[in-house]
Amino acid sequence: MSYDAVIVGAGITGLSIGFRAAKMGLEVLVLERDDPADGASAVAAGMLAPVTETTFGEEKLLRLNLAGAARWPSFAQELGEAANQPIDLLTSGTLHLATNRDQAAELERLYEYQVKLDLQVERLTAGACRELEPALHPSTRAGILARDDRAVEPRRVIRALGKALHAAGGTLRTGSSVRSIRTGDHPAVTLEDGTEVAAGTVVLAAGCWSGLIDGVPKPVAAALRPVKGQILRLRHRPDHPVLLTHVLRTEEVYLVPRANGEVVVGASVEEKGFDATATAGEVFELLRSAGEVIPGIRELQLAEVNVGLRPGSPDNAPLLGTAAPGLVVAAGHFRNGILLAPITGDGIAQLLASGEPPPELLPFGPGRFDR
Ligand code: GLY
Repeated sequence: MSYDAVIVGAGITGLSIGFRAAKMGLEVLVLERDDPADGASAVAAGMLAPVTETTFGEEKLLRLNLAGAARWPSFAQELGEAANQPIDLLTSGTLHLATNRDQAAELERLYEYQVKLDLQVERLTAGACRELEPALHPSTRAGILARDDRAVEPRRVIRALGKALHAAGGTLRTGSSVRSIRTGDHPAVTLEDGTEVAAGTVVLAAGCWSGLIDGVPKPVAAALRPVKGQILRLRHRPDHPVLLTHVLRTEEVYLVPRANGEVVVGASVEEKGFDATATAGEVFELLRSAGEVIPGIRELQLAEVNVGLRPGSPDNAPLLGTAAPGLVVAAGHFRNGILLAPITGDGIAQLLASGEPPPELLPFGPGRFDR
């Protein structure tokens, strides 16, 4: 068995690379330990929000995030056509809110920073926020509207990517755990059952689990860690009034509305290693914070409590590029795995096809943490 590219991991990153590489005519195999619907990608809320996720001191990542966001409309269109299943984006924008005095001061600081970075943001009074979202809590003090921040349903995207990969001639094999990777002149992966699969290039896209595979270069393994996120899905009956139409967020919580009435409430950020236990305390905090944004969410059904393990890195930015002869890494997307799927898929597929990464990936080479 031999492929041009063997991709380890069928989260949104691995599948996007597989889809793009197969479309370029490469023989692609994507290996998934469990099922694509079991990992962090299927738990994620799907915010495509470079502006409202802007963090002080992360300008380099911001540029990648903005470039990633710009690719989403055409990616969604192309993916929808390839999978014969429309991928709709929520385009109403994101409203970043302050619900108390401290948050209002912090929001002002953030607004000034966003303006300095030339981001498209509008400062809104409490009244203007309530005009956009009538169900907001009366204590809402102010908001920043980021009209270009969008959202997508990652579960739908993952299903579509599976179909699109297949339609482009690629293969997805689930229940295939990779024990080790060989780099060098004859790259290959060895599965848990001892089967060896030869590859022109091995692509490591197994999220926070990427570092656990034998043969992964030590600096790459050391750079990746799990960052736990607990997240909720609330639902209501079709006849229930719509509670929100924008993505809403404060410093403590975000709420993402879906067309089917679901509201995703997220997410904790916890350094707990590979622990994936849902805890009463974090669920309580998420619901309390969400209720301070939209009191009406207390009436909704608590349909799902999920835990995702984000792949964190030392600078919160992904590792994208060649890490050793025959080994390409695409991991460490931290809070931006869904947002960066199209640019990662395009860039890594280009690297596989031509041997050269596109310029936008160059600042994110996996060698930047080598000592
Ligand atoms: N991007 C949102 C999160 O990681 O919770």
